[in-house]
Amino acid sequence: MAIRLGDDAPNFTAETTEGTINFHEWLGSGWGILFSHPKDYTPVCTTELGTVAKISPEFKKRGVKVIAVSVDPMDSHKGWINDINETQKTTMNYPIIADPDKKVATLYDMIHPNAIDNMTVRSVFIIGPDKKVKLTLTYPASCGRNFDELLRVIDSLQLTSKYKVATPANWKDGEDCIITPAVGDAEAQQLFPKGFTTVKPYLRYTPQPNR
Ligand code: BEZ
Repeated sequence: MAIRLGDDAPNFTAETTEGTINFHEWLGSGWGILFSHPKDYTPVCTTELGTVAKISPEFKKRGVKVIAVSVDPMDSHKGWINDINETQKTTMNYPIIADPDKKVATLYDMIHPNAIDNMTVRSVFIIGPDKKVKLTLTYPASCGRNFDELLRVIDSLQLTSKYKVATPANWKDGEDCIITPAVGDAEAQQLFPKGFTTVKPYLRYTPQPNR
C-alpha cells in the first residue's frame, strides 16, 4: 500500500552500516530523510550517495538526519563505501540500511516491478518531528536526484510548519512567501508586521517572516 502525505512513517528495525537501528528512535525528535537507491556499485547511485555525504552539513544545519537503503547486503554496502569515498572525493557520514530481505523496501513500497524488477526505485521520504510523512518523491533508476531540491523543500516545510505561509514556485530560502488563503487581511496585518502586497485577494506576498 502506497504511503501518502500525512501518513505515519512506518517504523522498523534494521541493520545499517552504522549498526542496528530502530528507525523512530534513530530519528529522535527531529526531521529525517529516508531515500532508496536501486543497487550498490552502479554509477548514478555512486554519485547520489557521494553528493549527500558532501552536502551533509546542510542537512545537519537544518536538524535533518539522512539514511539510505537498498536491497543489497551489508558486505556489499561496506565495500561500495570505499568506492563512493574514492570516486566522489568524500567520506560517507550517514548510514545505509542493508535490506536483502526487502523488509524496509516493502514497508515503504519502494519496489515498482513494472519499472525495475527486484530493486528499489529512487524513493525519497521526508519525515517530520511528528513522524508523519511530509514529502514523497519517486524517480526512475536512470535519473539521479537533485538533492539541493530536497534542501529547498526542507526549508519550505520547516518555515510553513511555523508560520501561516506557503512558498511559491521555485521559491528559495530568503525570498518572499505567500500568505495562506485562510488568513484574512486583518489577521495578516498582525501576523506579518513587515507588511504584504496584494496582487489578487487570494495572492498576497510577504517577506519571509523568519528573516
Ligand atoms: C545507476 O545507479 O546507475 C543504476 C542503477 C540501477 C539501474 C540503472 C542504473
